[in-house]
Amino acid sequence: MAATRPSTPLGVNHLVLNVRDMEVSHRFYTEVLGYEQVGVAGDAIPLTMRFYSTHGKHHDIALVEQDRPDAAPADWHLMGTGGRLNHIAIAYPDREAFLAQLRHLRACGVPFRARGDHGMTHSVYINDPDGNGIEVLYEIPREVWEGDIDAALNYYKPLPTEGEASLEDDAHYKRFGGD
Ligand SMILES: [Fe+2]
Repeated sequence: MAATRPSTPLGVNHLVLNVRDMEVSHRFYTEVLGYEQVGVAGDAIPLTMRFYSTHGKHHDIALVEQDRPDAAPADWHLMGTGGRLNHIAIAYPDREAFLAQLRHLRACGVPFRARGDHGMTHSVYINDPDGNGIEVLYEIPREVWEGDIDAALNYYKPLPTEGEASLEDDAHYKRFGGD
């Protein structure tokens, strides 16, 4: 047993699905389910990826077009070991709970597959015992990213995944939109 304890999650923050045909799935999630597209991956994210939201969230669901969902995952873009689930993001209530959770994951021997500053979240990517992609995150205050959600969605700064530096978190947040 680890000497540390898990933080209590706030809940599921967003879900990312691998889809065969982006246009077909886009129509389903917008015209059938009523979601609004709020962002699209640009040059910083080398994927065909779109973000959908409701009620002012940065994203509720994202879709990644992948011809080969069973492809070996290389980094956070291709989470999971196969199938249609790319990753589930689980939010922790605040920065302190997130930092405690990082230490707990490390104490439990869970490898950090990737870690990064996503503009609207700070995140670490792990796998559950079946290889499902799990993103552990805390949300950056909304005034930091709500001015330009698409720009925040397209921002990614990789962070260390090993050693002491992987357990630290920089609270000097990059601001999106406005001045
Ligand atoms: Fe995510």
